[in-house]
Amino acid sequence: MDVMSIVGARPQFVKLAPISWASQTKFNHFILHTGQHYDASLSEDFFTKLSIPAPNIVLKTGSGTHGDQTSRMLLEIEKSLLKNKPDHVIVYGDTNSTLAGVIAASKLNIPISHIEAGLRSGNRRMPEEINRIVADHTSNLLFAPTQSAYQNLWTEGLGQYSFQVGDVMLETLKYVLQMTSQNHSGKDEYFFATIHRVENTDSLERLNLLLTRLSQSPVKIRLYAHPRLTKMIKFHELVVPTGNLELFDPLSFDESILMMKNSLGVITDSGGIQKEAFLLEKTCLIARQETEWVETLESKSSILDPNLELLETEWWVRSADMKNPEVFGDGTTSLKIIEQILNYHSMNK
Ligand code: UD1
Repeated sequence: MDVMSIVGARPQFVKLAPISWASQTKFNHFILHTGQHYDASLSEDFFTKLSIPAPNIVLKTGSGTHGDQTSRMLLEIEKSLLKNKPDHVIVYGDTNSTLAGVIAASKLNIPISHIEAGLRSGNRRMPEEINRIVADHTSNLLFAPTQSAYQNLWTEGLGQYSFQVGDVMLETLKYVLQMTSQNHSGKDEYFFATIHRVENTDSLERLNLLLTRLSQSPVKIRLYAHPRLTKMIKFHELVVPTGNLELFDPLSFDESILMMKNSLGVITDSGGIQKEAFLLEKTCLIARQETEWVETLESKSSILDPNLELLETEWWVRSADMKNPEVFGDGTTSLKIIEQILNYHSMNK
C-alpha cells in the first residue's frame, strides 16, 4: 500500500517524524513537501535532525496571500496525486498545506487521515481554524490528540470517524530529549519566547504592545523570531524596544527543546510550543485570547494572557500540584494511527 504524507510547514515536520519512523515496515510511505516553509531553519534542518527521509516530492510554493498560496499548492498536489496514485493520504495540523492537501485528495476520492483532528479555538478569524474545520469535514479518519478534541468531533457529527489516540508530538519530544540529554546550556536565567500568529504580528498596535511588554520583563527574554515576525517588524518600521528583550533567529527543533527545558518559563502564541512547555513542566504564558489546548489551562500549566500583563508577576513559579498527567497519550500514538489506517483499508477492500 502506498501512503503519501503531505506537509509544508515547521509544525508539520514535528508531527510527521513519528509516522515516518513507525511506518517503515507497514506500508510504502512517501512524503510530499509543498514548500510553504522553505528557509533551511524552518524546513530542511527539521528533516535532518529528526531523521526523516528527504521528501520524495518537493513543490516550490513559497509565500503569498492565502488564496494565492493555497491555490498554487492545490494545483501541484492534484497533479502529483494523479501521477503517484497513493492509496491513502495523511495530512497534519492546520496550515494552508493541510487545506490544499485535503481539497486535492478528497476531490480525487483518495481516503484521508487527519492527524491532530478536532482542535477548535472557536475563533473563525484565525486562518488555522478554517483549515482545521475543512480538514476534519473532508477526512475519512480523524485522529484526535486529546479528550476535548475528540469531544469536538462528536459535537460536529464526526464521532464515527474519530479516534482518540494521543499526540504524536510526545514521541518527537521524547526522541529529542534522549538525543540532547548530554547537552547543557549556560546557567543564565531567561524566559523562552516566540510570537508569530497573524493576530499578533500584523497589527502595529498589537506588535508594539507585545514587544514593549516583553522588553519590560524583570527577567531576560530570549525571543526566537519566526520570519513572519521579522518581516512585520520591518514592514511597520518598528524600532524594537530593548530592555530585557533580545531577538534571535529561529532555532532547530532540538535546540529549541533544550532552550525551553533550561528556561524559567515560556511565553508564546504557538500551539506546539504550548504543548511542549506543558510536557517539559514549564509554565507557559499564552499571548492569545483563547487556546485549542484547553487541557493545559485546566492543569494550570498554561495561562491565557493576551496582553502579557502578568509578566511583572511571578507567573512562572509552579506549585507542587502542577503535575502533567497523560493528557497527550502514552507515547504510542503513531502505532495506533498506522494500525487504524491498515484496518480501514483491509475493511474497505
Ligand atoms: C504557518 C501556519 C501556522 C503555523 C506556522 C508555523 C498557515 C495559514 N499558517 O504560518 O498555522 O503555526 O506556519 O511556523 O498555514 N517565510 C519565510 N521563510 C519561510 C516561510 C515563511 O521567510 O521558510 C515568511 C514569508 O515572508 C511569509 C511569512 O513568513 O510571508 C509567513 O509564512 P506562511 O507560511 O504564510 O505562514 P506562517 O506565518 O509561517
